[in-house]
Amino acid sequence: MKAAITILAGDGVGPEIMSATLKLLDKVAICKGHDFTYHEALIGGIAIDQTGSALPDETLRLAEQSDAILLAAVGGPKWDNPTAAVRPEQGLLKIRKHFGLFANLRPVKTYPALAHHAPLRAELLDGVDMLFVRELTGGLYFGPRKEQDGGSDAYDTMLYSVDEVERVAHVAFRAAQMRRKKLTSVDKANVLAAMRLWRSTVMRVHEDYADVELEHSLVDSCTMHLLTRPSNFDVILAGNMFGDILSDEASVLAGSLGMLPSASLGDGTFGLYEPVHGSAPDIAGQGKANPTGMILSAAMMLRYSLGMESEAKAIEQAVEDTLASGARTADIASDGRFISTQEFVDDVLQHLNL
Ligand code: IPM
Ligand code: MG
Repeated sequence: MKAAITILAGDGVGPEIMSATLKLLDKVAICKGHDFTYHEALIGGIAIDQTGSALPDETLRLAEQSDAILLAAVGGPKWDNPTAAVRPEQGLLKIRKHFGLFANLRPVKTYPALAHHAPLRAELLDGVDMLFVRELTGGLYFGPRKEQDGGSDAYDTMLYSVDEVERVAHVAFRAAQMRRKKLTSVDKANVLAAMRLWRSTVMRVHEDYADVELEHSLVDSCTMHLLTRPSNFDVILAGNMFGDILSDEASVLAGSLGMLPSASLGDGTFGLYEPVHGSAPDIAGQGKANPTGMILSAAMMLRYSLGMESEAKAIEQAVEDTLASGARTADIASDGRFISTQEFVDDVLQHLNL
């Protein structure tokens, strides 16, 4: 099968984890007779340096002609001034919005091989396997806002419409139907009007999914339950801001933020795939980055945008086997012994059975 993939390596550890991941995709293409065309383009800090924009038009043009986007990470100290008019993160928010990628899927599971690395007791981690469905193009991130503008106030607005909640709720319920049929919807309905609309809308959508058990969880108590009974969660549906926060918290369960992949989807099969972690500028260029989140994001791309389920599974299995064999990058090494990003990927390649 032919596929065009836009490659956005971005900043920090981005280029290292991207080139590592492309090695795996190349192997998938060769072994399965696929024809992947990569279109490299700019986003984030490097795009600001070269073009003045965090998301140049050329990048959007290439992405519009692609089947999927693979994105590594954006940002770094060089562009960190929060009052700057142009910031790397704007590229990320703009590309999500441009393609209408309203549903952000972030699976979190624990690997038995890493159970002793996570700061939680191993018995709490047994059976942890959850999927966050984070609303990605609305809420506090995109509501009306006012910058400080020299005055003494500034604000952001948490705005949700029924339509916005409905479409992402359908994604979450459908995902739950294919898993353990339990959905936890996160809100703050005891305080926020937008979250009361969220809850009542999710309850209405639930009427179409009688086989799924629905529970509502206030975001503050959800943060606690993620640590005290993480294996009870199946699918967790949350708005943009709460989903951002909770998914970083949940990454602790997986042993490292470097482990987590994500898929951002809209109405069709087109999607953007990026690890949940950021650009980690402190370790950039040292071969220390954990490429797992990026590799698993590529697997999600094969699954959701390219319809290559068996290839996706093969990559996921290879990662699991690599971890089971004892291979560790710096972030998940517990005895100080670790291998480089490239060596880790070479191990995954060795374990890849297509
Ligand atoms: C994420 C990141 C982004 C977000 C930032 C970098 C804009 O934290 O993808 O979770 O807040 O969505
Ligand atoms: Mg985040």
